[in-house]
Amino acid sequence: MNEEQKKQYREKYLQKKQKGGMKFFPDVLFKDTIFIFGVFVLLIMLATFVGVANEPKADPNDSTYIPRPEWYFLFLFQMLKYFPGQIEWIGTFLIPTIAMLALFLLPFYDRSPFRHFSKRKLALSLMALIVLGMAALTTIAVVTTPVQTEAGAVASTLSEKITAGEELYSINCVECHGAEGEGGEIKGVEGLEGFKMKPINSQDEMYTRNDATLVDIISFGQPSLGMQPFGKASGGALSVSDIENIVAFMRYTWDDRAEKPAEAKTAAIPTLAPDEVPSYNVHIAPVIKRYCLSCHRPGKKNNNYFMSTYQEVTTSGDHAPNVKPGDLNSNMILMLERQKIEAGNPMPPTKPLPPELVEMFKRWVMGGLPETQEQAAAASPAGGAAPTQAPAAQTPAVQPAAAATPAPSQPPAAAPSATP
Ligand code: HEC
Ligand code: HEC
Repeated sequence: MNEEQKKQYREKYLQKKQKGGMKFFPDVLFKDTIFIFGVFVLLIMLATFVGVANEPKADPNDSTYIPRPEWYFLFLFQMLKYFPGQIEWIGTFLIPTIAMLALFLLPFYDRSPFRHFSKRKLALSLMALIVLGMAALTTIAVVTTPVQTEAGAVASTLSEKITAGEELYSINCVECHGAEGEGGEIKGVEGLEGFKMKPINSQDEMYTRNDATLVDIISFGQPSLGMQPFGKASGGALSVSDIENIVAFMRYTWDDRAEKPAEAKTAAIPTLAPDEVPSYNVHIAPVIKRYCLSCHRPGKKNNNYFMSTYQEVTTSGDHAPNVKPGDLNSNMILMLERQKIEAGNPMPPTKPLPPELVEMFKRWVMGGLPETQEQAAAASPAGGAAPTQAPAAQTPAVQPAAAATPAPSQPPAAAPSATP
């Protein structure tokens, strides 16, 4: 700034001051306060109505967790990719330090009194370049963020937690505690044969154990009684959030004081229409997951009968095949009907499957073990496709459940009495 410019500036300043100008106190402060208050209200609104999605609880044993900085540091994070390993310091220290120094020293090397671009080409272009570079690096970092694997997927809403917990319970706990936590005399579990398990779905259990206690029981197990620890810290397979999901499932399913959110109820096994043939994908797989999979997977006592996939269900096992299309004398059906046969004891060993689910397995067998919904539709009488010999004869046997309701005789009798 030369002397001439300085003089002009001073004059302008004095003129403004004489007109009254704007006082720092209270004018400027008042304006600032109003503005800051606005920002404050906005933040409260955002926190109340938008919120931030939770990450899973920190789990020191989880080595698959990839920590990532907040978005406003992502550009630095991205630099690590261009300066890996030994030269990391260039990206994380040297370049940022030079940039900060440049900014810090700006008043010393750029002393132009003008703001317009045409008079400050170099400084403004440089700054624009830096800002654009940061934006580009941030964008690249966001775009290349790996999608969290399924195992790390976060169940964030309560109903997601309950659904995830139900699945984990089915796989890890059903073999000993039963599909509904009903307990009973354990059968078919090595080391605990004949053990009388108290129910864990009872009011007694739910009222005396709070969530934190349940988390502890599952994490550390009850080794002296025969329950192994499930927490990763104790050598188990479940993360802290897995265990919390199981507890959410237990609490909202068995505790009569907790009301399950409506959307969580849909995790139930789909029901069948009167003539519908069930398919593996839609009907059978969820039943197996809930009632059988806990024992029928590798590493458990089960005659090598694994039930994770359609392939395994229809072909594996020491007495394979355990289900044959159209054969109600298949091992599985006989065992579900509580018969003791060469292949083993009644299944599931502890508590009979509800009759409507046994019925579902029977219809599946009679329908020819369809895997997909389309195949099942083709096998249904209504589906139009040629039915196999047996189903035609067998379908009536499926009806009694519906026919057993005394509906037909009721309405005529009830109608007259209702109108005096
Ligand atoms: C290998 C068998 C086995 C498995 C698998 C198992 N438990 Fe247990 N659990 C037991 C035994 C045995 C007890 C002691 C029960 C008793 O005294 O009646 C028990 C007790 C419990 C209790 C009650 C503790 C108390 O004193 O209130 C809870 C709750 C429980 N288990 C939850 C689970 C959950 C959830 C899972 C699945 C992650 C699971 N268990 C898996 C065997 C098992
Ligand atoms: C508590 C553990 C447990 C549960 C739950 C369970 N099973 Fe089993 N299953 C076994 C054991 C153990 C055997 C080996 C035979 C025996 O000891 O009775 C077996 C054997 C079988 C076999 C004979 C396999 C072969 O090739 O020899 C079939 C079929 C079977 N189970 C079907 C089922 C079905 C269907 C369900 C679910 C509705 C089910 N099981 C649930 C423990 C279980």
